Amino acid sequence: MLSITFQAYPAHFSGTIIVGAFEGNTLSASAQKLDTHLKGALARALKIYAFSGRSQDVCTILAPTAEIDQVIVVGLGKESACTLQELEEIGGRLFSYVRAKEACVLLDAFSTVSMPGIFFAEGALLRSWRFDKYCTKKPIDKMPHLETLCIAVTDVAVAEKEFAPLKQRVQGVFETRALVSEPANVLYPASFATRAEEILSPLGAQVEVFGKEQIEKLGMGALLGVAQGSVREPRVVVLEWNGVATKEAPIAFVGKGLTFDSGGIDLKPQKGMEEMIHDMAGAGAVLGLFKTLALRKAHVHAVGVLGLAENMPSGSAQRPGDIVKTLSGKTAHVLNTDAEGRLVLADALWYACDRFKPRILIDLATLTGAIVSALGAEFAGLFSNDDSLAANLIACGDKIGEKLWRLPMTEKFDKDIDSDVADVKNLGTSGEGGSITAAQFLKRFIKEPVAWAHLDIAGTAWTRKNTALAAKGATGFGVRLLDAFVKEYCEN
Ligand code: BES
Ligand code: MN
Ligand code: ZN
Repeated sequence: MLSITFQAYPAHFSGTIIVGAFEGNTLSASAQKLDTHLKGALARALKIYAFSGRSQDVCTILAPTAEIDQVIVVGLGKESACTLQELEEIGGRLFSYVRAKEACVLLDAFSTVSMPGIFFAEGALLRSWRFDKYCTKKPIDKMPHLETLCIAVTDVAVAEKEFAPLKQRVQGVFETRALVSEPANVLYPASFATRAEEILSPLGAQVEVFGKEQIEKLGMGALLGVAQGSVREPRVVVLEWNGVATKEAPIAFVGKGLTFDSGGIDLKPQKGMEEMIHDMAGAGAVLGLFKTLALRKAHVHAVGVLGLAENMPSGSAQRPGDIVKTLSGKTAHVLNTDAEGRLVLADALWYACDRFKPRILIDLATLTGAIVSALGAEFAGLFSNDDSLAANLIACGDKIGEKLWRLPMTEKFDKDIDSDVADVKNLGTSGEGGSITAAQFLKRFIKEPVAWAHLDIAGTAWTRKNTALAAKGATGFGVRLLDAFVKEYCEN
C-alpha cells in the first residue's frame, strides 16, 4: 500500500517533485521557486510542451539537475473550479502515472482550498489499492511505482489531523474492496461473517452472527429460500456501533450479501457470470462503513444488518413458482429465482425495522441489471420515501464523487408486483421499470414511519476499467458517501 507522509516544504529540491499549475500556466509559489532554481527551465518546458494547465494535463521534465530526477507539473484547471473532488482525481491519476518509488508533492494553498495536498494524497491512496494477493508475482512490480508520497505542508501537525478522518474513510473503502474482490470459494456466508467479527470486534463494534438454525427460528423464509440450493449455509450478521452516550433511535444500514449469484434454477448465462462474486457489494459496503465509523469513533448510533447467502441451482434449490413466507408474515411468490436480492433484503429490512426501530434506514444492493442500463457506471440508483433524506444523500454524493440519481416510486409500479396467489411477487407483470419494481418490492418490507433510502449499486460497485480513484475491480462505492452522510447529517 502507498504510504503517505507529511513534511515541511523542503529547503533543497531533489528526487521526484510534483507541482501544480492552474489554467493559463500561472505557476504556484512553490513551482515558481522551483523554476527560479532551474533558471527558468520549468516555464520554458511548459511553453515547449504547449502545456495548458487544464485539469489532468501533465508535463514531465526529466533530470534537470544532478539532484532532481524529474519534475512533474500537473494541471489543476481553473482555480475557481478546482474542488476537493478534482484534487482527489488528480492525485489518483498521478499515482498511476508516476514512475518513481518516492515523490514529493508541492501544492500550495489557493483561494478555496487551504490544504490541497491532503486531498491529492487521499486520491493517490485510493488509486494505489489493488487486489493482487493471489498473484505470486505482483504485476505492479514490472514497473517502478510510487511507494511513498510525501506531501509538503506548512503545518505538519494540522495536516496529519485533517488527513486522519480521510484515511479512516479510505481504510473502510479498502476493507470493502477486499471483501468484494474475494472469489466465492473463499468468501461465502460463514467466512464473511467470521471476517466481520475479525474486522469489527477489535475496534469495539458489536457483531452478532445468526446461523441457519437461528434464521429458521426467526422465520426468515425468503432468505432461506434463496439459500436452500447451496451447500454454503446462510448467515445474518448484525452490526452495532454506538458512539453516543444516550441510547437514541439508530440509523440502520442493510446490505445485500449474495456471495455468489448464479441465478439459481433460472440460471444466468455463462458470459459475465464470474462477476457475480461481487453480488455481496452492498453488505461489503456496510461492513466497510462500520469499520470507518468505529475507527473514527463516530458520534452516532448505527446498526447494520447483512443478509448473506449463496444462490445456486441444485436438487434442493428453490423453484420458480415457489411461495415463501417472509419474516414480516407476508408471503412472496418466487417467479424468477434470479430476482433473489429482493427476497434476501425483504427479511433483512423487516428485521432491521422490527428490532431497532431506526429513524433512518438505508439499504445498499447490487439489485438489478436494469439500473446498469439506465444509469451506467456514473450514478447509483436512489429510491426513497423521504424527500429530504433523498436530497441529503444526493448532496453528499455530489460532494464526495459517488453520485446518485433518484428514480420514482408510484402506486402503479407497486400494483405491478401484486400476485394472484400470494401477497407479492418478485417479478413485475409488465417487465418494465425493472429497477423500480425491485424497489417497490423492498418498500413492502419497510415498517413505516421510517425515512428509507434504497441504493441500487449494481453499476457502481465494481468497474471493468481503471478509473481515477480505483483500479479495475471493486470500487468500494458507498463507504465514503455514507460516512460523509453520517458525519454531515447524523452526528451531533
Ligand atoms: N445480482 C443481480 C443484479 C446484477 C446484474 C448486478 C448485473 C450486477 C450486474 C440480481 O440478483 C439479478 O439477477 N437481477 C435480475 C432481476 C430480474 C430477474 C428481474 C436482473 O437484473 O436481471
Ligand atoms: Mn440474481
Ligand atoms: Zn443478485
